[in-house]
Parts: sequence; C-alpha cells; structure tokens
Amino acid sequence: MQHLIETQQFERDSLRKLFDLATRMEDHRDDSLHGKILAALFYEPSTRTRLSFESAMLRLGGQVLTMENGGESSSQTKGETLEDSIRVIGQYADVIAMRHPEAGASERAAAISEIPIINAGDGAGQHPTQALLDLYTIERELGAVDGAHVAIIGDLRYGRAARSLAYLLGKYDNIHLTLVSSSELKMGDDIKEYLDEHHVTYTETAELAGAMHEADVIYQTRIQKERFPTQEEYERFRGGYVITRDLADSMKDKAIIIHPLPRVGEIMPEVDDSPHAVYFKQVGYGLIVRMALLASLMDPRYEDIIR
Ligand code: CP
Repeated sequence: MQHLIETQQFERDSLRKLFDLATRMEDHRDDSLHGKILAALFYEPSTRTRLSFESAMLRLGGQVLTMENGGESSSQTKGETLEDSIRVIGQYADVIAMRHPEAGASERAAAISEIPIINAGDGAGQHPTQALLDLYTIERELGAVDGAHVAIIGDLRYGRAARSLAYLLGKYDNIHLTLVSSSELKMGDDIKEYLDEHHVTYTETAELAGAMHEADVIYQTRIQKERFPTQEEYERFRGGYVITRDLADSMKDKAIIIHPLPRVGEIMPEVDDSPHAVYFKQVGYGLIVRMALLASLMDPRYEDIIR
C-alpha cells in the first residue's frame, strides 16, 4: 500500500508512467475500480480538487463518500482526533483524499492509516496532485519540461501548489525559475536549498513585466487569504500582481499562462481568450491526472508508479 503525501516521492520514470497513463485516460471510462470506495475528506473549502477526484473515481467505476466542511460538520467538533477519524473512515473506504488546514496533517494520517492517503492540500505544506497536473499541463502544452523557463508569481510563501511544483521541476534538466513576489511573500529557504541541490537556477524579483516576456510558463497564483493572520495583512498584498491583456500579449509565441485556480482578480477576464491562456484547459488535465493517480493506488496493473 502506498500513500501520496509529497511530490518528492516521484522520479522521472514514475512521472513518465503516470503522465502516459493520464493521457490514456482522456475521454475514457471503465470499471477498473468497480467495488472500490473513495472517501473525500475535506476540512477546507474546495471546488476542483474534491469534485475532480470524485469524478475521476466515478469514471473508473468506483464510488464516493464525501465530507465537505469537515472542520464544522465532522466529529472533530466534539474533539475527535484526526488519527481516530482516519481509523474509522478506513473501515468505510478503500482510499482517502484529504484536505486539511495543518501542514503535515496528511503525513500524520498516513502514519496510522490502513488505506492509502492522498494529500489534497495540507495547509501551507504541499498540494502534490495540483503540482502533478500543473507539470502535466506544461509537458502537454510545451511538448517537454526540460529547458523550460518557468515564472512563478504571487504568494510563494504560503502557496502550497507552488512549493510542490518547485520540487517536481527539480527533477528536470536545464530549468530556470523566475520567482516573482513581494519581499514578504518570497519562496521559503527550504525550497531554494532544494533547487540549489538539484541544479535549478533561479532569480528572485518583485517585477512582473520582465518575466512575462521572457518565460515559457507563467504560473500565476492567488494570494492565500486564509493563511494570513489578519484581513488587513492580506489586503496589503491583494492585487499586487495582475496579468492584464497587454501583459499577456507581450509573451513569447508559444508561452503559456497556468494557474491552479480559483483566481480572485490576479488574471483579468480579458486574458481568457488569449492563445497563451491555458488555465481552464489545465482543469481538464487535472481530471485525467487524478484518474491516473487513483488507478496507480488501487489498480494492481499500475502499482509501480507511486512509491
Ligand atoms: N486548485 C485547487 O486546489 O482548487 P480547489 O481549492 O477548488 O480544490
């Protein structure tokens, strides 16, 4: 049995197998997970991650149990520990996709779980399935990841998807990152040390325009309102980096704009019909990547992908 907790679990060969499987999942439905049950256990809000996991499970013939607003609706409100909840849900389901506000919560769950745990976002920690679909999008749209210049923009301090993607990009050759943020929301030293160790070059800047016309991938992110101690502090950063149509038009010919979504003003709607905008297409890639992940965890034919 394997868990999916962080992107460091993947190597180039496992990413290759996962992405090949995801591509085969396009427009695909089968009964390969018939009789299996996914528990979607969400202690934080979600639209894409929860519903795409549920859709992925249904498309593979499985069934779903779902708990949204777990922080308010579950027996956690009576004082039940996360560990006890996982022990209980493990008797109802075959796999758990869990989102939780605390970094490290998925690791805690995995430590005692008898069924696979998928980290669907743990506080400011990681969001590995998002990063996998982001990487898949880059490969599908550019044709290759090696050699890419990726600009990651916005909240690099609290943005768990950006952290997870940085770890994955460290597996590829000749990657250059431009990290665009205010000085207070810079990428953590742990990630920068990892990039150094993996020979990923990076520059840090507070200026967006230069990155827009130099990068192959613009990875725009939302300021993570829910991670700030106060609304006032969040308001200081909101609206700091906004992609306008003029900025999108300044991009290189084949360059792409991706975003984990939801967006809350950091990409103007007038960008949506730009040839560079692939953030809604990216959502569809997320569905097939999550189908491939569920198959990797529960279909014996693919058990060598996640280690
Ligand atoms: N990208 C992402 O995690 O979206 P949701 O919060 O809607 O799941």
